[in-house]
Amino acid sequence: MAINIKVNGHDWPVSADPDTPLLYVLLNELELKGPRFGCGLAQCGSCSVLADGVEIRSCQTPVGEVGNRKITTLEGLPELYAQQKKLAKAPELHPLSQAFLDQQAMHCGYCYNGQTIKGAELLAKNPKPTEAQIREHMNGHLCRCGTYPRIMKSIQAAAETIAKEG
Ligand code: FES
Ligand code: FES
Repeated sequence: MAINIKVNGHDWPVSADPDTPLLYVLLNELELKGPRFGCGLAQCGSCSVLADGVEIRSCQTPVGEVGNRKITTLEGLPELYAQQKKLAKAPELHPLSQAFLDQQAMHCGYCYNGQTIKGAELLAKNPKPTEAQIREHMNGHLCRCGTYPRIMKSIQAAAETIAKEG
Protein backbone atom coordinates (compact mmCIF):
# COMPACT_ATOMS: atom_id res chain seq x y z
CA MET A 1 0.00 0.00 0.00
CA ALA A 2 1.38 3.42 -0.97
CA ILE A 3 2.34 5.68 1.92
CA ASN A 4 1.91 9.43 1.90
CA ILE A 5 3.22 11.64 4.63
CA LYS A 6 2.67 15.33 5.30
CA VAL A 7 5.94 17.15 5.87
CA ASN A 8 6.36 20.92 6.20
CA GLY A 9 3.00 21.59 4.57
CA HIS A 10 3.43 19.26 1.59
CA ASP A 11 2.20 15.76 0.83
CA TRP A 12 4.99 13.34 0.01
CA PRO A 13 4.59 9.90 -1.53
CA VAL A 14 7.05 7.51 0.10
CA SER A 15 8.58 4.54 -1.67
CA ALA A 16 10.24 3.03 1.42
CA ASP A 17 8.92 0.02 3.31
CA PRO A 18 6.45 1.00 6.12
CA ASP A 19 8.91 -0.27 8.74
CA THR A 20 11.59 2.18 7.59
CA PRO A 21 12.39 4.80 10.21
CA LEU A 22 10.88 8.17 9.37
CA LEU A 23 14.37 9.66 9.75
CA TYR A 24 15.71 7.66 6.81
CA VAL A 25 12.81 8.82 4.63
CA LEU A 26 13.34 12.46 5.61
CA LEU A 27 17.06 12.22 4.85
CA ASN A 28 17.12 9.91 1.86
CA GLU A 29 13.85 10.52 0.02
CA LEU A 30 13.01 14.10 0.96
CA GLU A 31 16.70 15.06 1.17
CA LEU A 32 16.15 17.26 4.22
CA LYS A 33 19.18 18.49 6.13
CA GLY A 34 17.66 19.35 9.52
CA PRO A 35 17.13 16.02 11.30
CA ARG A 36 20.33 14.20 12.23
CA PHE A 37 21.19 10.59 12.89
CA GLY A 38 22.77 10.33 16.32
CA CYS A 39 22.17 7.26 18.44
CA GLY A 40 19.39 5.67 16.39
CA LEU A 41 17.89 4.48 19.69
CA ALA A 42 15.57 7.37 20.65
CA GLN A 43 18.03 8.44 23.34
CA CYS A 44 19.79 11.58 22.12
CA GLY A 45 17.16 13.71 20.35
CA SER A 46 19.24 14.70 17.33
CA CYS A 47 16.64 13.21 14.96
CA SER A 48 13.63 14.95 16.51
CA VAL A 49 10.74 16.35 14.49
CA LEU A 50 7.30 17.60 15.47
CA ALA A 51 4.20 15.51 14.75
CA ASP A 52 1.13 17.73 15.11
CA GLY A 53 3.31 19.98 17.27
CA VAL A 54 4.57 17.19 19.53
CA GLU A 55 8.23 16.16 19.46
CA ILE A 56 8.91 12.61 18.30
CA ARG A 57 12.13 10.72 17.66
CA SER A 58 12.14 10.03 13.96
CA CYS A 59 14.86 7.37 14.25
CA GLN A 60 12.42 5.09 16.09
CA THR A 61 9.19 6.04 14.32
CA PRO A 62 8.31 3.73 11.42
CA VAL A 63 7.18 5.81 8.46
CA GLY A 64 4.13 3.56 8.16
CA GLU A 65 2.94 4.78 11.58
CA VAL A 66 3.05 8.49 10.81
CA GLY A 67 -0.44 8.49 9.28
CA ASN A 68 -2.06 11.89 8.83
CA ARG A 69 0.02 13.66 11.44
CA LYS A 70 1.63 16.85 10.20
CA ILE A 71 5.38 16.50 10.43
CA THR A 72 7.46 19.63 10.91
CA THR A 73 11.21 19.49 10.58
CA LEU A 74 13.74 22.19 11.37
CA GLU A 75 13.19 23.52 7.84
CA GLY A 76 9.47 23.99 8.51
CA LEU A 77 9.75 25.72 11.89
CA PRO A 78 9.55 29.34 10.57
CA GLU A 79 6.31 28.56 8.70
CA LEU A 80 4.84 26.74 11.71
CA TYR A 81 5.76 29.71 13.90
CA ALA A 82 4.05 32.09 11.45
CA GLN A 83 0.89 29.96 11.62
CA GLN A 84 0.99 29.84 15.41
CA LYS A 85 1.49 33.61 15.69
CA LYS A 86 -0.81 34.40 12.74
CA LEU A 87 1.95 36.32 11.00
CA ALA A 88 1.42 37.43 7.40
CA LYS A 89 4.82 36.10 6.43
CA ALA A 90 7.13 33.49 7.91
CA PRO A 91 10.40 34.85 9.33
CA GLU A 92 13.62 33.64 7.80
CA LEU A 93 14.43 31.86 11.05
CA HIS A 94 12.36 30.69 14.00
CA PRO A 95 13.18 32.98 16.98
CA LEU A 96 14.91 30.07 18.70
CA SER A 97 17.16 29.43 15.70
CA GLN A 98 18.07 33.12 15.71
CA ALA A 99 18.76 32.96 19.45
CA PHE A 100 21.05 29.95 18.97
CA LEU A 101 23.07 32.04 16.53
CA ASP A 102 23.08 35.11 18.75
CA GLN A 103 24.12 33.13 21.83
CA GLN A 104 26.64 31.05 19.86
CA ALA A 105 25.04 27.96 21.33
CA MET A 106 26.17 25.66 18.53
CA HIS A 107 29.61 24.20 18.85
CA CYS A 108 29.78 21.08 16.69
CA GLY A 109 26.09 21.74 15.96
CA TYR A 110 25.09 18.10 16.12
CA CYS A 111 22.37 18.55 18.71
CA TYR A 112 21.09 21.80 17.20
CA ASN A 113 18.21 20.21 15.31
CA GLY A 114 16.77 18.39 18.30
CA GLN A 115 17.37 21.19 20.79
CA THR A 116 15.57 23.62 18.48
CA ILE A 117 12.67 21.30 17.78
CA LYS A 118 12.22 20.54 21.48
CA GLY A 119 12.62 24.18 22.52
CA ALA A 120 10.14 25.31 19.86
CA GLU A 121 7.66 22.72 21.14
CA LEU A 122 7.98 24.22 24.62
CA LEU A 123 7.67 27.86 23.52
CA ALA A 124 4.53 27.10 21.49
CA LYS A 125 2.85 25.69 24.62
CA ASN A 126 4.45 27.89 27.23
CA PRO A 127 5.83 31.18 25.86
CA LYS A 128 7.21 32.26 29.24
CA PRO A 129 8.81 29.16 30.74
CA THR A 130 10.76 29.33 33.98
CA GLU A 131 14.32 28.04 34.10
CA ALA A 132 13.08 24.94 35.91
CA GLN A 133 10.42 24.32 33.26
CA ILE A 134 13.01 24.68 30.49
CA ARG A 135 15.35 22.31 32.29
CA GLU A 136 12.63 19.70 32.74
CA HIS A 137 11.34 20.02 29.18
CA MET A 138 14.76 19.79 27.55
CA ASN A 139 15.86 16.85 29.65
CA GLY A 140 16.69 13.98 27.30
CA HIS A 141 18.23 16.12 24.57
CA LEU A 142 21.91 15.50 24.78
CA CYS A 143 24.68 17.92 23.85
CA ARG A 144 28.02 16.19 23.66
CA CYS A 145 29.75 19.61 23.60
CA GLY A 146 28.11 20.63 26.88
CA THR A 147 26.63 23.92 25.68
CA TYR A 148 23.68 23.58 28.05
CA PRO A 149 24.10 27.05 29.62
CA ARG A 150 24.00 28.66 26.16
CA ILE A 151 21.04 26.52 25.13
CA MET A 152 19.25 27.75 28.26
CA LYS A 153 20.08 31.37 27.38
CA SER A 154 18.90 30.81 23.81
CA ILE A 155 15.50 29.57 24.92
CA GLN A 156 15.15 32.46 27.35
CA ALA A 157 16.16 34.95 24.65
CA ALA A 158 13.71 33.42 22.17
CA ALA A 159 10.94 33.68 24.78
CA GLU A 160 11.71 37.41 25.10
CA THR A 161 11.59 37.86 21.33
CA ILE A 162 8.30 35.99 21.10
CA ALA A 163 6.83 38.10 23.92
CA LYS A 164 7.80 41.29 22.06
CA GLU A 165 6.08 40.05 18.91
CA GLY A 166 2.83 39.85 20.86
S1 FES B 1 19.10 9.54 16.63
FE1 FES B 1 17.06 9.53 17.28
S2 FES B 1 17.18 9.91 19.39
FE2 FES B 1 19.25 9.70 18.79
S1 FES C 1 26.84 21.57 20.13
FE1 FES C 1 27.89 19.67 19.82
S2 FES C 1 26.42 18.21 20.49
FE2 FES C 1 25.56 20.08 21.10
